[in-house]
Amino acid sequence: MDRCKVGVVGVGHLGQAHARLLASLPNVELVGVVDTNSAQADIVAARHATRVFDHHCDLADRIDAACIVTPTVFHHTIAKDFLTRGLPVLVEKPLALNLDEANDLVELANRNNAILQVGHIERFNPAFEELRTKPINPKFIEAERHGMFTGRSTDIGAVMDLMIHDLDLLLDLVGQPVEDVQALGMTVFGRHEDMASARLRFAGGCIAHLTASRMSPMPKRKMRIWAPEGYAGLDFCDKRLTLVQPSPELRLYGLNTRGLTASERQQLPSEIFKQHLQTQEMTFDSGGDQLMRELEDFVRCVQNRSTPRVTGEAGRDAISVASRIIDSLNRHAWNGQSPGPFGPADVPPPLGPLFDAPLPEFEPQRAAA
Ligand SMILES: NC(=O)c1ccc[n+]([C@@H]2O[C@H](COP(=O)([O-])OP(=O)(O)OC[C@H]3O[C@@H](n4cnc5c(N)ncnc54)[C@H](O)[C@@H]3O)[C@@H](O)[C@H]2O)c1
Repeated sequence: MDRCKVGVVGVGHLGQAHARLLASLPNVELVGVVDTNSAQADIVAARHATRVFDHHCDLADRIDAACIVTPTVFHHTIAKDFLTRGLPVLVEKPLALNLDEANDLVELANRNNAILQVGHIERFNPAFEELRTKPINPKFIEAERHGMFTGRSTDIGAVMDLMIHDLDLLLDLVGQPVEDVQALGMTVFGRHEDMASARLRFAGGCIAHLTASRMSPMPKRKMRIWAPEGYAGLDFCDKRLTLVQPSPELRLYGLNTRGLTASERQQLPSEIFKQHLQTQEMTFDSGGDQLMRELEDFVRCVQNRSTPRVTGEAGRDAISVASRIIDSLNRHAWNGQSPGPFGPADVPPPLGPLFDAPLPEFEPQRAAA
């Protein structure tokens, strides 16, 4: 295969970046784009001197592979049409709307011997890649993923939209099944939870606590890992990895604070991270665009018939845990009521305002829209 012929289905916020990066790859021919918003399809196609196709099936006979970057609710239908023909697909995260759809896609890909890659882009974050080269056996993990409300991805909630990234990373890091799930969520803007918090217990005893919110003023994507080997802190926004490990002396003898003089005790806080806990901080400014590296991985797998870093099975497994989290938060017993239909849309009524604030001017037409 000389140049890999690729089509992009859905060229909105993220899909147009797929199209731009694919068009820039020397070993790729961007054969065309599809979008139900024809004006958007025209703009993106003109930008990259490629064609617009009316329907994703029109691409099928002309491409070696497709990227599916539509809202999640359409992933299953579109991916199925390509996989049935044995065509490789990169499906954006989450792989599908629910576990049944995800299982169906994995089964179809296997039956037709077609590559199915899922767009869990944080696997290509260089800080996470560096962590994966280290020997680490996580025992407690905290993950926070906060974003602003964009009005996109309203077909899914914060668990499938944001937390799914951390679920995929956790399953990759811990490598064990999740045995227990407890979760809580709240809906502020729409049908699905906009904030969720979950506590997972893995088979080997590792505990993970995750929060995801899509109503934060500032983006935040962090993970903290405690392990017998030490501590790892990841900042996915800044692509920073902080590693801390006990000095050999501390591991052997512990820290005898009783034997310290008063002045040594005073010095201790500033000495801790010099003498006793060794620290290394790494920031990965270079390493290239994560989406570019994800797409390069996809094209390489299509050309070499190799296995992608994030397989359909991995995307399906993340959805399996996400579904259990959503079930749990939908059953959460607000106000101590027994489990029942008290989902995130039914938080208890507020006791009162937290502070006095001027009332915004009411615009009935905008509010109704
Ligand atoms: N990996 C990441 O970090 C990341 C980030 C953002 C979005 N996403 C995922 O990417 C997908 C798209 O998100 P977005 O923010 O770009 O959404 P978006 O709404 O900006 O774009 C989706 C586009 O798909 C088009 N579309 C809808 N139905 C279609 C169909 N049947 N055929 C062809 N086109 C269709 C829409 O007209 C729109 O232009 C979602 O699955 C989302 O979860 C992933």
